[in-house]
Amino acid sequence: MKKSASQDVAPDASGALDALSHEERVFRPLPKVVLGANLSPRGLEAAQDQAARDYLKFWEEAACELDWYGRWDTVLDDSQAPFYKWFTGGKCNIVYNALDRHIASPNKNKLALIWEGEPGDSRKFTYYELYREVNRFANALRSLGVGKGDRVVIYMPPVPETVVAMLATAKIGAAHSLVFAGFSAKSLRNRIHDAKAKMVVTVDGFYRNGRVVNVKSVVDEALIGIRGGCAETVVVVHRAGVDIELTEPRDVRYEDVVRQERSDASTEVMDAEDTLFLLYSSGTTGKPKGMVHTHGGYMVGINRTFRWVFDIKPTDIFYCTADPGWITGHSYVVYAPLIAGTTTVMYEGHPLYPQADRLWDIIARYGVTIFYTAPTLIRMLMRFGPQYPKRHDLSTVRLLGSVGEPINPEAWLWLHKHIGRSECPIMDTWWQTETGMCMISPLPISPIKPGSVGKPLPGVEAAVVDKNGQPVPPGMGGFLVIKKPWPAMVRNLYNSPEGFRETYWDKIPGVYFAGDMARKDEDGFYFIQGRADDVLVIAGHRLGNAELEAALETHKAVNEAAIIGVPDPIKGEAAKAFVVLNDNWRQEFENEDELVKELIKHIRRELGPIAVIKAVEFRDKLPKTRSGKIMRRVLKAEELGQELGDISVLED
Ligand code: PRX
Repeated sequence: MKKSASQDVAPDASGALDALSHEERVFRPLPKVVLGANLSPRGLEAAQDQAARDYLKFWEEAACELDWYGRWDTVLDDSQAPFYKWFTGGKCNIVYNALDRHIASPNKNKLALIWEGEPGDSRKFTYYELYREVNRFANALRSLGVGKGDRVVIYMPPVPETVVAMLATAKIGAAHSLVFAGFSAKSLRNRIHDAKAKMVVTVDGFYRNGRVVNVKSVVDEALIGIRGGCAETVVVVHRAGVDIELTEPRDVRYEDVVRQERSDASTEVMDAEDTLFLLYSSGTTGKPKGMVHTHGGYMVGINRTFRWVFDIKPTDIFYCTADPGWITGHSYVVYAPLIAGTTTVMYEGHPLYPQADRLWDIIARYGVTIFYTAPTLIRMLMRFGPQYPKRHDLSTVRLLGSVGEPINPEAWLWLHKHIGRSECPIMDTWWQTETGMCMISPLPISPIKPGSVGKPLPGVEAAVVDKNGQPVPPGMGGFLVIKKPWPAMVRNLYNSPEGFRETYWDKIPGVYFAGDMARKDEDGFYFIQGRADDVLVIAGHRLGNAELEAALETHKAVNEAAIIGVPDPIKGEAAKAFVVLNDNWRQEFENEDELVKELIKHIRRELGPIAVIKAVEFRDKLPKTRSGKIMRRVLKAEELGQELGDISVLED
């Protein structure tokens, strides 16, 4: 990391952030990538021009790439802002686009889904096979009394029936709400209650890290004493041979309910603004919130971004490691790949099972061409060294992607070198459950800086501002905001319209408040500095945690770091680092004290004298959400001896 730290930055009351690092390395795309890209440099210029001139037309054209039952009257209805509506009057169903229309096309017999179980079993579905399975379950849902406007909670691991349940629910016009299978009975119960879900779809159990995880028993516990009207039916998929108790007549087996159903089913005609799904956020900071997403705008946003960011070609095998229970799984494991007629890969189990090369093995065996993953996973796999990817032929990979957290340049470079043969571009995509689609990201034709999420995609107007909404100068950090609505945006928080306004629209009037801190450099590249709640204020300097963490992670002893602010009598706040070491650190240092001193010096060398780390604590692992984000809030509460608050999203 190149640095340019200044000591004379005045304390700033505007909420702007100091930026200590400065990335000068630029990776340029290979000519062959540029030549073959869906969006050429000239096309990008035209798209940016059009979006700047008439962004409603821009999004309208994106909508025209999909199939609709009836055309919209209005592209964007902002009459009740911030409750924006897109493509009002339009009639559609996302499942028509993801499945039905492919059956009359050459995609009919193409692989839609390649699934691999942890023990090594595998199931493959062509578009036609997936279509038939979805239809059978759609008919079963109708037979069980679920219909348009109902909510179905899907408490499932990554198995094919999870995809089937999502698509079948959407097909009949009900809304799905996935709950990640690692959540506790209490979290599941809260979500079922909040959504007033009529049905729960679940599984007996699944394989994870060589063991069978029992899922149905968690559902049983969640449903004890549940209020009437909720979870009237529980559909249980058979996966792992777990001995389960069926509570009749509530519980039915998936295999029994689909057996007698026909393999054709009508697709409900939906208004563009009808709810497609609710998804409760993973919530690093507080109580989970139910995001509402709709059929029309969501499909338009994910389709365009998928085709452009991942440069999708008919021969691609797309592997995104996200669980379908997160937004990344919804948008880029299930819906966008299927809409685009791509083959999507899903893996049930643990990335280290039976060894640290499982993912590389999957890539090699299926000939994966695009690999989209998260920094937490890359850092985990880096620890085992490059000999694991080296065992496999990864030559089919042509594009890489990252999402979910700031990717520190060390992890970026490792991924680029060892998985991408130093030539595959990395799309570091910034987005959120709320945004539904990628918002800021490089494109395969763009120059890239490690650790940067590139620039806003065409049609997305982002900015870095102070707390008054004033733009901060290049190089300074500030609040990341989105200045214009976009089609895949969250429409509301379920049962909490006031919370929706307060969280996203009232903090800085007139713009969407993302809750992240970012800086834009002189070349217009965005760098995410961390969540606004995690900002440190050291001697009047406001610092983002991500920058300090990335600087620590450039030290060879450090695998992963989390930085929090702790009270300091002189500086107001001081930084404390929690560090997970690489296994080889002992070879270099005699004891931990010496290493602590070295790390404190290292970060000072990297970022300059403002970046003072007061204390370093070594940990075997860091507290993370179930989606892999570091929970600094928990570290801080532990450090200060405070209540931990809601920790239902914690991994363990
Ligand atoms: O803080 C940002 C971080 O993840 C948050 C959104 O989390 P979630 O709603 O769970 O969705 C994750 C998958 C889209 C953001 O507010 N984040 C996401 N992508 C990046 C990121 N931080 C830095 N770089 C990214 N590429």
